[in-house]
Amino acid sequence: MDIRNFEMLKKYASENKVEQCIIRCDLNLPSDVEDLSRVYAIKDTVLEVLNLGIKATLISHYKRPSIEEISNPKFSLQNIVSDVSKVLERKVEFIKPSIFNIDPITINADISLLENLRFYEGETKNNDEFAKRLAQFGDVYVNDAFSVSHRKHASIHAITKYLPSFGGLSLHKEIEGISKVISHIERPFTAVIGGAKVSSKIGVLKQISQSADFLIITGAMANTFLVAKGIDMKSSIIEIDHLNTAKEIMKNSKAQIVLPIDFLASENINVNGINVAYQEIPNGFSCFDIGEQSIDKIIEIVTNTKTLLWNGAIGAFEFSNFNKATNTITQEIAERTKKNKLISVIGGGETIASIGEFKNDMTFVSTAGGAFLEFIAGYELPGIAAIAI
Ligand code: 3PG
Repeated sequence: MDIRNFEMLKKYASENKVEQCIIRCDLNLPSDVEDLSRVYAIKDTVLEVLNLGIKATLISHYKRPSIEEISNPKFSLQNIVSDVSKVLERKVEFIKPSIFNIDPITINADISLLENLRFYEGETKNNDEFAKRLAQFGDVYVNDAFSVSHRKHASIHAITKYLPSFGGLSLHKEIEGISKVISHIERPFTAVIGGAKVSSKIGVLKQISQSADFLIITGAMANTFLVAKGIDMKSSIIEIDHLNTAKEIMKNSKAQIVLPIDFLASENINVNGINVAYQEIPNGFSCFDIGEQSIDKIIEIVTNTKTLLWNGAIGAFEFSNFNKATNTITQEIAERTKKNKLISVIGGGETIASIGEFKNDMTFVSTAGGAFLEFIAGYELPGIAAIAI
């Protein structure tokens, strides 16, 4: 799908009076580890906009505040203004407009950042009134948030009805990079899907289980699959409402599904774990990482894989006592990629944070998690469709 790209924005700006550009960014940064990849991702677009003599108004969501948490300072984008300013090497002015209560204000700063969009109910409802209000902060709109483009939200979708709209440089790079890999997948093709919840990835798990050769399920999500197979995971996190989903995926999968066979389990995440087989998890213990045998099994599959796709944390990598599997598997993927034996595509804010500097060795790293998976699964992303030619 071709989109209205940045060159078209430049042409538009040369023919029309454009003073202010709204740039939809994804500043939903991981909270447990410092990773500013999503800020670096927007840098080129922001600087190019400034080069055109246009001011940039950055807009983004941050986490998922509940109704009761709206305006809670913990979710304010004010918390990351200094990070954004450091990466962009420019002053960034934080603006806290009550978008529905005041007339649009004139912003004088070259780069401004508006408050967390999810403090406004209209955002996730893709509300037209909210989108119109938001659109008054610019003369043009740029989506540089591929990682949010699977959300039909006002700042991604409805806003494009009210402003000339284009894709940013990072959005373009993401689409191009992922498309290049998925258009000729070399087999064996392995998908490593981790993270906490089956519920957030049902559609893609179903789709990828039909197209991959191996589907390695890790993270807390693996617990739900093991419980669905009748294993007692003791105090580990599981999604009781999704046992049937897990059963259905396992029953219909064309890919060979690989689940952990042992774990690092502990009574408390701050205490070192013991390596136990899944049948031997002690009462009161939770699994926070996969064990040695599971690591070996995954490494063996990686060694025989030509294309690897990975999204979602393998274990509680933020804790040094539970990051061994993540580090060992990451290192193997990086080594094989550097030797041109593997095409590796890694996506997701948390996943990128978990691989640290190894991200530079991978074939392609996407800032997107959910959007990355949906794009690969072939779904139409509302944010991309909205700026399609
Ligand atoms: C992400 O982290 O994948 C994006 O920022 C989207 O966030 P969301 O899943 O809360 O919509």
